[in-house]
Amino acid sequence: MHIRYDKASDQAIVTPCKRVAGMIVPPPDKSIAQRAALLAAIGDGTSRLVNYPSSADPLSTLRCLRQLGIQIEKDGNDLLVRGKGLDGFSPPAAPLDCGNSGTTMRLLSGLLAGQPFDSVLTGDASLRGRPMERVAGPLRAMGAKITLNDGCAPMRIARSERLRGMEYRLPMPSAQVKSCVLLAGLRAQGRTTVIETLPSRDHTERMLNLATQEQGGARHIFVTGNTPVPARARVVPNDFSSAAFFMVAAAIAPQGALLLKNVGLNPTRSALVGALEDMGARICISDLRESGGEPVGDMHITASALRGARVDGERIPLLIDEIPILAVAAARAEGRTEIRDARELRFKETDRISAMAENLRRLGASVEEFDDGLSVDGPAELHGERVSSHHDHRVAMAMAVAGLMARGETVIEDASCAGVSFPNYWQALASVAS
Ligand code: S3P
Repeated sequence: MHIRYDKASDQAIVTPCKRVAGMIVPPPDKSIAQRAALLAAIGDGTSRLVNYPSSADPLSTLRCLRQLGIQIEKDGNDLLVRGKGLDGFSPPAAPLDCGNSGTTMRLLSGLLAGQPFDSVLTGDASLRGRPMERVAGPLRAMGAKITLNDGCAPMRIARSERLRGMEYRLPMPSAQVKSCVLLAGLRAQGRTTVIETLPSRDHTERMLNLATQEQGGARHIFVTGNTPVPARARVVPNDFSSAAFFMVAAAIAPQGALLLKNVGLNPTRSALVGALEDMGARICISDLRESGGEPVGDMHITASALRGARVDGERIPLLIDEIPILAVAAARAEGRTEIRDARELRFKETDRISAMAENLRRLGASVEEFDDGLSVDGPAELHGERVSSHHDHRVAMAMAVAGLMARGETVIEDASCAGVSFPNYWQALASVAS
């Protein structure tokens, strides 16, 4: 057993392996699932959600929706969400706890602004430290009354008139901010246009079938206020971001041959494939098909010698959540890998630039940190060490893959946070490592 999770100490203990091989069915995509739940809640009638994840973030979304009076039931493995229409939320009796989930807080704020009742959105210590002005600002411009605590949650949303539609140019490539404004636009008067100059994940636009137009190098996304959202069944594909840890594990292992099943391959999410291929990884996609409006396929990854590459610019938002694991691949690649234009990483569940730089250095990698990214000179002879997850699921999971390639024992502290997106990660990784 090369990975062991010790519940009592909340540590994952990882020892080096030679082979990463077998098959993994990654958990369902939380980004897509959370949007599906929110849209079902404001839908007209009952929506069936198929393959809804049991990870902590999507459960936080359901908990908040229930507090807003939405009935959600299990039907076998599916969820039935009894949508109450655009104006169907009931006033919540207590603050809405979004846990660790930025997507829940930022997207839900778009639906709670301009309601005839007050609401408070809060979360765990990590979420209460993340910037919320980026959603409060545009919502206020639409007429919402929102107060923050020094730019952060708790977000207090006071009852107000219906919002007014507006044109909003995104100041940063954030799918959460984009989705927040689009969801607010659904309930607002008139038309709302969101303009993005750098593309980010487009699940919200896809699910709502929104009209888009390229204009002057930017993408305009339109939503007409007061358009009912039909109830419908939605199938959640498996999560590319969760698959990413296994892709890299198989690519950098001495021997690797892994099959990842039914993985969401939306191009606004899967730029890691191209980045790893640039580094020399061997990735083969088969059975590419469409499921629930999203491209889905199987991925086969075989081990190969990687070389360093530069990853920056427009590609960054399309692999933003995969940068911690990309940094691990970089530590095993020959030459320099430089990841730039990724300052947004400093505002995730933790500051992922500094957390990954610190952790990889502890294992012996040569890492330089920049304000907007990092560079790694490889290949490093990694050695096991004690590292902190910084309470960030993606840091914990990335460091486990690094540990599989490090001499001796790597201990990841506060490892249970992996459950934010991948409930049985430690067992899944152990099942393919030998
Ligand atoms: C997400 C968008 C991204 C991503 C996060 C999920 C989403 O955040 O990092 O994990 O579901 O829209 P930003 O919008 O802050 O870039």
